[in-house]
Amino acid sequence: MSVLPLEELRTAVGAEHVLVDAGLTASYERDWTGRFGARAGCVVRPADTAQVAEVVRTCAAAGVPVVVQGGNTGLVGGAVPAGGEVLLSLTRLTELGDVDVAAGQVTAGAGVTLGRLQDHARAAGLDFGVDLAARDSATVGGLVATNAGGIRVLRYGSMRAQLLGAEAVLADGSVVSRMAGLLKDGTGYDLVSLLAGSEGTLGIVTQARLRLVPRLTARCVALLALPDADSAIAVLPELRRRLPHLSAAELLFADGLALVRKHGHLPAPFAEEHPAYLLLECADTTDPSDALVEAVSEADGLLDATVATDAAGQRALWAYREQHTEAINAEGVPVKLDVSVPTGRLPELAARLTPTVAGVVPAARTIVFGHVNEGNLHVNVLDAGDDAERVTDAVLRLVAELEGSISSEHGVGRAKTAWLSLSRSRTEIAAMRAIKTALDPQGVLNPGVLLPAV
Ligand code: FAD
Ligand code: MLT
Ligand code: ZN
Repeated sequence: MSVLPLEELRTAVGAEHVLVDAGLTASYERDWTGRFGARAGCVVRPADTAQVAEVVRTCAAAGVPVVVQGGNTGLVGGAVPAGGEVLLSLTRLTELGDVDVAAGQVTAGAGVTLGRLQDHARAAGLDFGVDLAARDSATVGGLVATNAGGIRVLRYGSMRAQLLGAEAVLADGSVVSRMAGLLKDGTGYDLVSLLAGSEGTLGIVTQARLRLVPRLTARCVALLALPDADSAIAVLPELRRRLPHLSAAELLFADGLALVRKHGHLPAPFAEEHPAYLLLECADTTDPSDALVEAVSEADGLLDATVATDAAGQRALWAYREQHTEAINAEGVPVKLDVSVPTGRLPELAARLTPTVAGVVPAARTIVFGHVNEGNLHVNVLDAGDDAERVTDAVLRLVAELEGSISSEHGVGRAKTAWLSLSRSRTEIAAMRAIKTALDPQGVLNPGVLLPAV
């Protein structure tokens, strides 16, 4: 690797924002799961778009690759170094514009956390359509770059659907900016949309113009106990038909709930343990409780149910679902696979996942949960030992057999590049590579992420 242009980087962002000491860089160099990471050449913390552009120009001129990082909550190793790169942290780009209530839009810097964006929108009587458990650390730039999904996709779609504009620094240090918040624009290729899900390989997002949604304060949450995954999947279409205000539908199982209760010290939701659980939330301007209770009470196969109409009760039910990621990590470093299949194939996927993993590592524990409406299951394998790659291969081949995606919402990162061809055809990968080469011919931005290295 080429020599690090440390002096030029210090000139660009200020010496105190170029970190070299291992004690200062360590928290940037390891991913959230603890599975991925390596030493960076240095960590650089620019304050604004102009500084980001200067850093990128400097690195490109020196032939040093750049790894782009937001809140470092990504789960596929895409935001941490492979070794020796300049790690560009966007967390100082925290400018947040006034909410444009008339347009229902806001401009947010790449480093604004999701939680802060939500609070800001709510204070103006609106809300943001994406929500996920890492809200206090995940940033706008990271959410755009991964096309994050989360728990409200059923109602509002993924991050791409919230993105009305973006500003980004390209690999040569030039800046593209489409921030007017146009609701319609038919002038050719949609570069803003292309940035969503590009995982830092095409440009560095510095700001985003985001769509806001009405703030819905009347909420009701229900936890349903069911005999198996099939019953949980089967009740959903009727619930969706009867509940136009349904905003979340999440699937969890007894083993995951047991881990959450153990590490979160939470009480049991029901007197008895049940095999499968469906967490539902309705949100509206008027109280949706009666409609939810009635629909739930008539759901086929129901073993038990509990409903929370007050905020504290709702938080307690959500904790059973949202604490899965932390509880699993508390048991050890998991192999995390995030997959989706056409909803008709979901029962087969749910049935075959654990046997598939057991066929590779009989002693492994497979904890599954996910966003059931989108056919998206999170497959977490604990105790895989040295067999992480073989487990990954077996699960992702199963998903491909069921015509699914090897990454539903977390991205490809470094973790899944080797399996990209299971979800994308040779022609698609060639087109993606052509776009990457056109925008980043030197391979400066996030080399080895998303597309396999050539
Ligand atoms: P990082 O982890 O820093 O980076 C992620 C990727 O984006 C990397 O490839 C990085 O290079 C790139 N990137 C970051 N910032 C920029 C930028 N400004 N410009 C260009 N590229 C950039 N994800 C979901 O989709 N749904 C969930 O429900 C969900 N729940 C989660 C719960 C927990 C507890 C945790 C730890 C993670 C969860 N995630 C979820 C994953 C993660 O939060 C998302 O992928 C999020 O979008 C990452 O944001 P970040 O700022 O942390 O990005
Ligand atoms: C979630 O839905 O909680 C996440 O995507 C995080 C995970 O898969 O662990
Ligand atoms: Zn998820």
